Amino acid sequence: MEYILEMKNITKEFPGVKALDKVDFEVKDGEILGLVGENGAGKSTLIKIIGGIHIPSKGEIYVGGKKVVFNSPNDAFSKGISIVHQELNLCPNLTVAENVFLGMENLGEGRNNFLKTVDMKKLEEAAQNLLNRIGAQFSPNTLVRELSTAQQQMVEICKALARNPKMILMDEPTSSLSIEEVERLMKIIKELKKQGISIVFVSHRIEEVVGICDRVIILRDGKRVGTLEKDEIEENKIIKYMVGRDVELFPKHVERKKGELILEVKNLKWQKMVKDVSFKLHRGEILGFAGLVGAGRSETMQLIFGINKLENGEMFYKGHPYNPESPYDAIKNGIALIPEDRKLQGLILQMSVKDNIVIPSLRRIAKSGFVLDEIKEREIAKEFVNKLQVRTPSIYHIANNLSGGNQQKVVLAKWLVSKSDVLIFDEPTRGIDVASKAEIHKLMEELAAQGYGVIMISSELPEILNLSDRIIVMFEGKVMVELDNSKRNITQEEIMYYASGKKQLVNP
Ligand SMILES: Nc1ncnc2c1ncn2[C@@H]1O[C@H](COP(=O)(O)OP(=O)(O)OP(=O)(O)O)[C@@H](O)[C@H]1O
Ligand SMILES: [Mg+2]
Repeated sequence: MEYILEMKNITKEFPGVKALDKVDFEVKDGEILGLVGENGAGKSTLIKIIGGIHIPSKGEIYVGGKKVVFNSPNDAFSKGISIVHQELNLCPNLTVAENVFLGMENLGEGRNNFLKTVDMKKLEEAAQNLLNRIGAQFSPNTLVRELSTAQQQMVEICKALARNPKMILMDEPTSSLSIEEVERLMKIIKELKKQGISIVFVSHRIEEVVGICDRVIILRDGKRVGTLEKDEIEENKIIKYMVGRDVELFPKHVERKKGELILEVKNLKWQKMVKDVSFKLHRGEILGFAGLVGAGRSETMQLIFGINKLENGEMFYKGHPYNPESPYDAIKNGIALIPEDRKLQGLILQMSVKDNIVIPSLRRIAKSGFVLDEIKEREIAKEFVNKLQVRTPSIYHIANNLSGGNQQKVVLAKWLVSKSDVLIFDEPTRGIDVASKAEIHKLMEELAAQGYGVIMISSELPEILNLSDRIIVMFEGKVMVELDNSKRNITQEEIMYYASGKKQLVNP
């Protein structure tokens, strides 16, 4: 069997954490290899070692049978290894072509040998060829900031392809994509495989792994605990290896009663993103927002949270007109927004887990309202770190060093501690592993049962269908339909139908 990459005995230690513990890893020529594991299992660390970003504490790497040492991403590039990062790393004010060839303008395609300058026409042609290769529909001279997340990811893929790789590593490439975009990415991945490129694919959406991978390697607590060959790949097998036990994916529905009206919004308008949005939220319910990426769901919530300023329409909160000047205003009133982009909006990365959790609640925790109470802060932080099973060496660890999924849990903890009346969750389980996802779902159901008004934006339909009492489907800044889901009888097809902008469902 031909391995294009082999790693032996890889150990990686960070201060206080053994992220990888004697891991063997191998990638076959032309395969799509799935890499799965719980939050903090070591997937990204392994990917970064292969990509030359981290240097292993111990162990060897072989490419095409020859031992190599990667000291930088360029070392990995030169051996035909490219990464498509989860957090997109593009320059928004440069064009697609400029981004694709950034740092290599003078090599190959773009070089004008005679003038020793960069030939933009040639770069654009070369970029167009790469865009064609993956079936992208936009032009190479579009500015990156004008592209959707999914399109930007296509640019990242072209950027990887421009280096002529034998292997592309993709760390959670689907976590910010909507269903249709995921399908397109799956096609692209299969196409790349046909072109002879091996893919390493990391995802928490197990059904994607089952759907596309030729082989799956499972990590748990930094160790390789299992390998599944093509004919053994099954959802429950993967989960069992990951978690070490069976997991009930959608816990039993927690009984709850719809309470009083707490928030009502009418005809909201903001720029081109929110055109006409009206809805009511009651205590004791989970109101789900479905729609494609870009439907205006997040922007609507940002109006309620005071990040964006309302241009038209009205809001009523607890029976009074409500028009927040700022997020501070919203928080003071008891409205919390748990944002989708934890890096930009959710965490202060250089502060500790504990400080991140207690910050919005400092006043409430403090003695007599103004003397900081360190002991109580610690207790509360510990309680929520346990409750949400945040994997961190201690509550004093800085947030930046946690794995992606564990950072998301800290964001959740922070708002749960703050005791708001209305909780708005924007993609609450993005990047969260299956077991923790079930925990977070349970928690959201409990919060609703306790009388909070809960709003949830989610692009994962099973999550919407299982948790929501009512579902609002948005399309291009408008509410397409409001569906009663109290009997949990709405289907994925129905949601998809409205989410694509169609109005009347015939033969439901
Ligand atoms: N730069 C760093 N400094 C300190 N600890 C780190 C650093 N990077 C990762 N870790 C720790 O190493 C462990 C593995 O993290 P890693 O990011 O590889 O997990 P993961 O499997 O990718 O998780 P997720 O699914 O949440 O993305 C975690 O405990 C994490 O906190
Ligand atoms: Mg990761």
